[in-house]
Amino acid sequence: MNATINLENKHFPVLLNELISIISPLYGGTFIDCTFGQGGYSEKILENKKNDIIALDRDNDVLFKASKLKKKYNSRFKFYNIKFSQLDKIKLKDNKLKGIIFDLGYSLNQIKNSQKGLSFLDKGKLNMKMGINDISANEIISNMDENNLIKVFKIFGDESYSKKIVREIVKKRKEQNIKTEDLVQIIDSVKKYQKTKIHNSTKVFQALRILVNKEISELINALINSFRLIPIGGIIAVVTFHSIEDRIVKFFFKHYSEQRNSSRYLPEAEVSERCFKLINKKPILPSESEIKQNPPSRSAKLRYGIKTNDKCDFTEFREKFKNLTDVENLR
Ligand SMILES: C[S@@+](CC[C@H](N)C(=O)[O-])C[C@H]1O[C@@H](n2cnc3c(N)ncnc32)[C@H](O)[C@@H]1O
Repeated sequence: MNATINLENKHFPVLLNELISIISPLYGGTFIDCTFGQGGYSEKILENKKNDIIALDRDNDVLFKASKLKKKYNSRFKFYNIKFSQLDKIKLKDNKLKGIIFDLGYSLNQIKNSQKGLSFLDKGKLNMKMGINDISANEIISNMDENNLIKVFKIFGDESYSKKIVREIVKKRKEQNIKTEDLVQIIDSVKKYQKTKIHNSTKVFQALRILVNKEISELINALINSFRLIPIGGIIAVVTFHSIEDRIVKFFFKHYSEQRNSSRYLPEAEVSERCFKLINKKPILPSESEIKQNPPSRSAKLRYGIKTNDKCDFTEFREKFKNLTDVENLR
């Protein structure tokens, strides 16, 4: 989700009807909601009495909403304040798991919370931590090596003014601690208030959020752990909001749903089986009326796959995006 405030100023679960229509054939079991947020997906799935929910979120600000659902649905609802990359830590009591779902990004409540400093509209100390983080955006802007910071802005933000912006940041940080409004001002001064469709600071802020929250390795590890956890016939569904996330999710489903043979000399029996069946080759997008009601939904894409095979080697998946996970480890 990004920073545009919708008309009613509340979090709308994105692509909710579309998600429900793809998972409902599997109703009658447990679904893991890896991005609980304001509980929109969880609550809708719990409306069907045959379903249970295990919900996760790294942000403990959602505990209030989670405890409301706990009161209402009792043993049908469990919440864990963990990162979704740690999905493998969840102990499942039975073999009723039917689906694992992700709605990546931020809720409107997080964007509106100025303490979190996720938005370039905020004022004050840079932060951007969603929850359970090692570093903040302030530590990155204050200490990161100049060349590494350029890489971060280029690779995670596709920011073509990276070098100039970082040069100004390095000058300024020698004089003072750079706050959110200072960073916005630095970017504006470099870009000279260009009149483009997106705000001057969008790309740099996206890059910092990805780095602070290690969004790339979180997603890659979570997808692999989801595959390990879900039984054959179960579904993994993911809603993405930016192009890097979508590239990762697209590769995960598409590459591992193709019939592959690592060597053309392998006997027929050793041809690796597909890991997923894909029903839709293309992502599911929000309708015009959803975009009208909730403008931030315009960049959402829903992709999903049904697991068809237990043995799947994800070495190629990790290799493919190693250039990105390496950037997350720069200091
Ligand atoms: C877009 S919101 C989800 C909204 C939710 N579907 C709803 O209907 O209310 C994304 C949520 O995922 C959480 N989140 C993002 N990355 C996470 C991670 N790596 N581990 C756990 N939670 C994460 C965020 O804290 C946020 O609350």
